[in-house]
Amino acid sequence: MSGYRSLRDLGVSLGSLTVVTGANGSGKTSLYRSLRLLSEAAQGRLVATLAAEGGLSSTLWAGPEAIGRSVRTGLHPVQGTARKAPVTLRMGFSGDDYGYAIDLGLPVPSYPFPLDPAIKVEAMWTGELLGRTNLFAERRGPLVQLRRARDGTWRDVMTNLSPFDSMVTHCADPEDGAELFNARERMRNWRFYDALRTDPDAPARRPGVITYTPVLSGDGADLSAAIATIHAIGDAAALEEAVDQAFPGSRLEIGPGDRGGLLLHQHGLLRPLGPAEFSDGTLRYLLLVAALLSPRPPELMVLNEPEGSLHPSLMRSLARLLLAASRRCQIIVVSHNEALIGALHSEGDVAAVRLHKDFGETVAPDVETPRWVWPKR
Ligand SMILES: Nc1ncnc2c1ncn2[C@@H]1O[C@H](COP(=O)(O)OP(=O)(O)OP(=O)(O)O)[C@@H](O)[C@H]1O
Ligand SMILES: [Mg+2]
Repeated sequence: MSGYRSLRDLGVSLGSLTVVTGANGSGKTSLYRSLRLLSEAAQGRLVATLAAEGGLSSTLWAGPEAIGRSVRTGLHPVQGTARKAPVTLRMGFSGDDYGYAIDLGLPVPSYPFPLDPAIKVEAMWTGELLGRTNLFAERRGPLVQLRRARDGTWRDVMTNLSPFDSMVTHCADPEDGAELFNARERMRNWRFYDALRTDPDAPARRPGVITYTPVLSGDGADLSAAIATIHAIGDAAALEEAVDQAFPGSRLEIGPGDRGGLLLHQHGLLRPLGPAEFSDGTLRYLLLVAALLSPRPPELMVLNEPEGSLHPSLMRSLARLLLAASRRCQIIVVSHNEALIGALHSEGDVAAVRLHKDFGETVAPDVETPRWVWPKR
């Protein structure tokens, strides 16, 4: 990430389960949001989301382009200088099989909405590091080119792509741009959970229709259906175990009727309780269970401060769930909860990314900076 909020220039290596921690204001939410922005690029929502965040003028790194040594050591104050380099917000990721990067800047001066960021360059490649030979899709301004799998030659697939549209959404033809298409499908399925509400009006407390739901929605509104789906076609044993581990002697039941709902039988109660009656922590835990035991795991799942109202005694159960889920999909947990971080470390193998703020800039001093190449403008 480069140029997004406090992420002036940050690269981090991620494991199958990574916990991102750091003090208030260190940049955790910025990292979370930048990952989400990448997924939004694959859904055609990136430019609109950035505009809603206040446009480039507010999301761009607000510090100087370069921080001199005399400034760092306190000899000189931080001063603005005229920008030498063009305004740029760059984001990207790569894994074993493919990588993607996007570079945004200001729109042409005559454009009526000057806050809208414009996409300048995009690149998609196979393997981890962008290079000349593994690049297979490239966008420069309005021109998109794809490399033919057959003979490796390049072909113009679009010459007039709008600066507010991504090549990932507009050129991912299942036949011609099959690799782009596959990558788009995977990126748009990345799952983000940061709004699992548990207050009295939380969507998860309202009755819902029990229908096939392999993916819990971002707000948890379809909790009962998602749990019923895990019970019917997913890992019902893991579901039972997760509930019993957290609340010994309790068990879940899906109530009868087509609008029947989730019920929790608890020791000592004469009747089971429904989501409207669950405690905040119980509801939060069941939401996380539903998200993590999804019978259709995505490539990447990112959870922002999942621990919410959970009591420290539930952290071990949550850590086990996270570790088990990380065997089926890559997981990033953003949290500064020591109990959860401790439980994760004691239950298994977890990569930790500790963020710090250095002169207003987010840095991750303890982790190795991965090798990375940005596409040129
Ligand atoms: N455009 C910008 N340029 C530079 N820094 C910015 C910009 N916008 C926000 N920031 C700063 O980035 C820092 C990181 O913010 P972020 O919300 O990611 O922190 P956090 O680690 O999630 O903190 P918390 O634990 O309080 O939620 C904050 O100190 C914020 O003031
Ligand atoms: Mg935050």
